[in-house]
Amino acid sequence: MFTSVVLVAAGKGERLGLGVPKAEAVIGGLSLFEHALRAIRAFNPSQLVVVAPSNLVQSYLEVATKLEFKSLDVVAGGETRQDSVSNGLAKVSGDLVLVHDAARAFMPSEVFSLVERELQNFDCVIPALPVSDTLKTVSGGEVSGTVDRSTTVRSQTPQGFKAASLRLALSKTTSNFTDEAALLESQGFRVGTVLGSELGLKVTTPADLEWAKLRFGIARTGIGTDAHRFADSGTLTLGCISWPDYPALEGHSDGDSVAHAIVDSMLGAAGLGDIGSNFGVDRPEYSGAEGKVFLSGALDLIHQAGFELVNVSVQVIADRPKIGPRREELQAALSNLLGAPVSVLATTTDGLGFLADAAGVAAVATALLRERS
Ligand code: CTP
Ligand code: MG
Repeated sequence: MFTSVVLVAAGKGERLGLGVPKAEAVIGGLSLFEHALRAIRAFNPSQLVVVAPSNLVQSYLEVATKLEFKSLDVVAGGETRQDSVSNGLAKVSGDLVLVHDAARAFMPSEVFSLVERELQNFDCVIPALPVSDTLKTVSGGEVSGTVDRSTTVRSQTPQGFKAASLRLALSKTTSNFTDEAALLESQGFRVGTVLGSELGLKVTTPADLEWAKLRFGIARTGIGTDAHRFADSGTLTLGCISWPDYPALEGHSDGDSVAHAIVDSMLGAAGLGDIGSNFGVDRPEYSGAEGKVFLSGALDLIHQAGFELVNVSVQVIADRPKIGPRREELQAALSNLLGAPVSVLATTTDGLGFLADAAGVAAVATALLRERS
């Protein structure tokens, strides 16, 4: 059996609104196009035909070549999806063809195999999922009826075809369909179904991309440490709260080692350098700055880099102040500033090192980030 896959990736992605073709949207360091290629490579078709945005044909050829498909063609897409499918079909040499959306980049390869197998029984086969929401018909914002859910499914891709049937159907139509199964249905071909997969969600809107980033995006962790010596005077600020019974910590800024350790853990997780390289001592605006200035600066930087903070854990290493009695307050203050849970732990050093003399406060923090839209 010679099965070709046509991967349509030539859409503009207007509803996603990134300003680049949707297939170029990045999740976990790979574009949707690259994710889709990996799923298709796992299926290992006899031939892959990629339908690319016209200005990306050469670059998509280079990217796809690396995955060593048995046979590979890349062609430019057309104005509509149906035009793009026609352009791809012109290159297809298989008896069977599976047409797949790059927008459904995470469809498991098993579904490709199910569709291919069921083509023994039908001219066209679609992956389908049951509908769990109650479906309503509406007119002018008013409900006009309830649809019988038991006879509806959600249609996905890859949609499989006997290549000759798809060619025939395309040659006979003057209408434009949003998918090719609808085209074959309109001409009386029998269309079968196999069980699709929730992982094959079509990324259409920004909310879909956010969902896909939560499910398939990467998480990154970072560590930060900091230590400052007690001064002879002043009032301690640690973890962005004031400790009136203790002297201030020395430093170019306010010496808040808890805040500084957290900042380094966040910057490290995002691969953005450290507190010194971002808010260095050569910058007069940070002289005497409070810890919360650095925390909100680090938060802005990780957001700009496409991440959001999941949580922080920070451990204070010091004989004084005693953290336990104010732990809740400290955690609440830091969590509020960062918009994510912060846990605060404390330990001493069993009489070892400068911290044993209660001469200063050290802190070590870890932060977890995940991709955001
Ligand atoms: N597609 C294509 N050529 C077109 C239109 C769509 O190859 N002229 C592809 C898209 O790249 C996508 C699939 O068809 O993989 C499904 O289309 P859709 O989700 O509508 O994607 P876009 O057309 O890119 O998005 P939008 O309609 O929001 O612009
Ligand atoms: Mg479209």
